[in-house]
Amino acid sequence: MTAQHRPLTVSASPAGLCGRVHVPGDKSISHRSLMFAALAQGTTQISGLLEGEDVLCTAGALRQLGAKITRGETTWRVEGCGVGQLKEPSDVLDMGNSGTAARLLTGLLATHPIMSVMSGDSSLRSRPMKRVTAPLSETGAQFLTREGQRLPLAVQGTGAGKPLQYRLPVASAQVKSAVLLSGLNCQGTTVVEEPILSRDHTENMLQHFGVDVQVSPLEGGGRTISLQGPATLTARDVVVPGDPSSASFPLVAALLVPGSDCVIEGVGLNPLRTGLFISLQEMGASLEILNERIEGGESVGDLHVRAGTLKGVTVPPERVPSMIDEYPILAVACAFAEGTSRLQGLAELRVKESDRLASTVALLEVNGARVHVEGDDLIIEGQPSLPGGGQVLSHMDHRLAMSAIVLGLAAQKPVSIDDTAFIETSFPGFVDLMNTLGAGITV
Ligand code: S3P
Repeated sequence: MTAQHRPLTVSASPAGLCGRVHVPGDKSISHRSLMFAALAQGTTQISGLLEGEDVLCTAGALRQLGAKITRGETTWRVEGCGVGQLKEPSDVLDMGNSGTAARLLTGLLATHPIMSVMSGDSSLRSRPMKRVTAPLSETGAQFLTREGQRLPLAVQGTGAGKPLQYRLPVASAQVKSAVLLSGLNCQGTTVVEEPILSRDHTENMLQHFGVDVQVSPLEGGGRTISLQGPATLTARDVVVPGDPSSASFPLVAALLVPGSDCVIEGVGLNPLRTGLFISLQEMGASLEILNERIEGGESVGDLHVRAGTLKGVTVPPERVPSMIDEYPILAVACAFAEGTSRLQGLAELRVKESDRLASTVALLEVNGARVHVEGDDLIIEGQPSLPGGGQVLSHMDHRLAMSAIVLGLAAQKPVSIDDTAFIETSFPGFVDLMNTLGAGITV
C-alpha cells in the first residue's frame, strides 16, 4: 500500500475548467465484478474496471483464494472457482484501505470451510467489523478480532452454514452484501430486510450472474431481498460504468471555478447513487444529464456542468445512503454557496476511511469557512469567496484529499494538503484529469 507521502499545495485555478473527461470505473461495481467472477463457473471479461489500489487488493485476495485473474489489453479476465470452492489462503489477505473489500469478503469467507486472516492499513484496522461479524456469526462461522472487533480478523468459515434472516440496523450496502454473499453457500433461503434503501449493485450483479435474487417491498418502507442457496454463478461479461462518486470532484470544481464549462462522460446514474446530483440541482447548479442510456445493465449518462452561483440547501437524512461518500465534497460546495446549508443525519460518516464528519469540519474551518456540528447534522454558513490558506490533514482518506484539492482550486489563498497518496485507492490519475480540464495543479 501507498508508502510514500505526497504533500501538495493547490492554488486557485488560473482559468475555468473546460473540456470532456471520463472518470475511472465505479469502485463498488469493480469490487463486486471481481468477487462474483471469482465465484462463477467459467471465464468473465470485465471492461472499465477501476484500477485503483482498493480494487487491486480485492484482486490480490481473490487470487490467494484460488481465482485466476489477469489484466489484458482492454479487459480483465477472471477464471472463477465456483461457489464453495475457494481455497485456503497460505498468507494474510491484505485489504489495504478498503472497507468494502474487507466486509464483503468476510461474508463470503464465513460460509467457506477454510481458515483465513484479513488485515489492512491503519485506517482500515481502525474501522468497526462487528456490523458484519455479529450477523455472520449466526451462520456458524467463527471470528477472532482485536479489541473493538477490528482488523486483523481471523475467520474460520463453516461448510454447513445456516442461512441468515437479518434486518439491517444501519443503512449499509456493505452489511447487506456481506449477509447476502454468506447465503450463496448455505442450504436454504437467506433474507435481508432493509428499511432504508442502500445501493443495490450486489442484487443487480448477482442476478446478472444468473442467481435467483428476489426483491420485494418491505412493509413500512424499504425492501426485502432474498436468495436461495447453494447458488451457482455463471460467468457473464461485465461493463463497469464511470464512478458517480469520483465524478463528484471535477463536477463540484467546475461549479466553483468561474468560467468553467465541461462534460463528464459515461457516469453511472443508478438512482441509489445520485443524491449528490439532486442536492446540487436543488442548490441551483447548472448540471444537466445528457445522453442517458443503459450500459452493462446500469443507467449511465454524461454530466454537463457550468460554473454559477449556488445557494444553501437542506439535505434530509433519508438521502444519506444515496450520497454517503459525497458529503465532504458537498460540504465544500456549501461553503461557497449563498446562505446556510444543513446536511442532516450524518452519523455513519464517523466510521468511514476517516471520521469524515470531524475531518470535513476541520477541512472547512482551517480554510476560513463557518461550520459547526449539531448532533449528527453539519451546518455550513456559506460565503461567495472563501479565504483558503489552510493546512489540511487528509487522515489517509482519499475523498477528503480530493475535496481539499477542489477547495484549493476555488479559494483565495493556496491550500496545503499533508498527503494525497491515498487518492490512488479510488481515483488513479486524478490530478492529471483535473489538469486536462485546465486546473493548473503543479505537483
Ligand atoms: C459501499 C457502500 C458504502 C460506501 C462505500 C462503498 C459499497 O458503505 O460508503 O464507499 O460498495 O457497498 P456503507 O454501505 O457501509 O455505508
